[in-house]
Amino acid sequence: QVSCSVEKPVVIGLAADSGCGKSTFMRRLTSVFGGAAEPPKGGNPDSNTLISDTTTVICLDDYHSLDRTGRKEKGVTALDPRANNFDLMYEQVKAIKEGQAIEKPIYNHVTGLLDPPEVITPPKIFVIEGLHPMFDERVRDLLDFSIYLDISDEVKFAWKIQRDMAERGHSLESIQASIEARKPDFDAFIDPQKQYADAVIEVLPTQLIPDDNEGKVLRVKLIMKEGVKHFNPVYLFDEGSSISWVPCGRKLTCSYPGIKFAYGPDTYFGHEVSVLEMDGQFDRLDELIYVESHLSNLSTKFYGEVTQQMLKHADFPGSNNGTGLFQTIVGLKIRDLYEQIVAERADAPAEAAKV
Ligand code: ADP
Ligand code: G6P
Repeated sequence: QVSCSVEKPVVIGLAADSGCGKSTFMRRLTSVFGGAAEPPKGGNPDSNTLISDTTTVICLDDYHSLDRTGRKEKGVTALDPRANNFDLMYEQVKAIKEGQAIEKPIYNHVTGLLDPPEVITPPKIFVIEGLHPMFDERVRDLLDFSIYLDISDEVKFAWKIQRDMAERGHSLESIQASIEARKPDFDAFIDPQKQYADAVIEVLPTQLIPDDNEGKVLRVKLIMKEGVKHFNPVYLFDEGSSISWVPCGRKLTCSYPGIKFAYGPDTYFGHEVSVLEMDGQFDRLDELIYVESHLSNLSTKFYGEVTQQMLKHADFPGSNNGTGLFQTIVGLKIRDLYEQIVAERADAPAEAAKV
């Protein structure tokens, strides 16, 4: 089939355990591209897909090969590769990347069954989010950029309690049990993917409060791989140096336990990386502009864009700490990466003519 203007999407992978902030991150990302993402119109109301003007986000749970009953019968979790169809995932991500529409299955989270497929057409930016975007080498090789949200056990537990206990009426014991039950498969199949990520957002308990176990104040690291095409890591003050910075003072209001930034080079699974770290939380989001003014390589289009994005979504989880800040920054870096790839294609008309 020949079409004259075939869209060839830039493909992004976002990996994390469920309940770890993927959808919040996606909302920040699509907002950077200037539009909110919504479920496909007129389709299956239980579709997991989100579509905006530029971006389509699919959930990789749709490639479950075993439904809820099937998993129960075979005694495998959704995290287990045997419950997922990586051949189909690869074929379909490849097709989209080549500019072809696909008929993607739908895993219905309400019924636990596989619903009839939905048609997905190639967008400008195609995001695959879920448990296994970097698990299969063939799928991994199709990604133009990959992110892993690494939530430490302590924080995961605090978030789950907040959601499942407060909102769903689960008991503390049952939450603990479900996390424990998932852990072996999580460690075996999900966690190892972080070594392949171009950017990792690591969420840890604060070090500003001795023996903190509330999981409310967070220490967040943005680990950025060096040498990734179209991706220049963000830095604080002086690229490549090691810095610790407490910005609280005349320009930034900090109540207990304060805010501490750190920046410097490191290695991560044998790769050279730059790490930007923020411990603590903002009292006043508008004052973030002071921090923004000290960060470089942010890929903003105007001074203050990071702060503006954060203010715009002040109601999203993590807006007052490093999770929201770093998700926003990664969103801007992805926009930059996308624009560089598009510009590169425009500069190579011979290549484009082959399309
Ligand atoms: P996912 O899409 O990975 O399942 P969500 O973005 O829906 O995750 O977040 C699930 C829940 O986790 C939220 O409702 C919130 O309770 C908690 N959460 C997510 N991100 C954060 C954050 N940065 N700070 C605090 N809580 C968060
Ligand atoms: C993970 C997957 C979901 C799955 C859930 C529970 O969170 O992302 O697709 O529904 O596990 O699995 P269960 O087998 O209990 O339905």
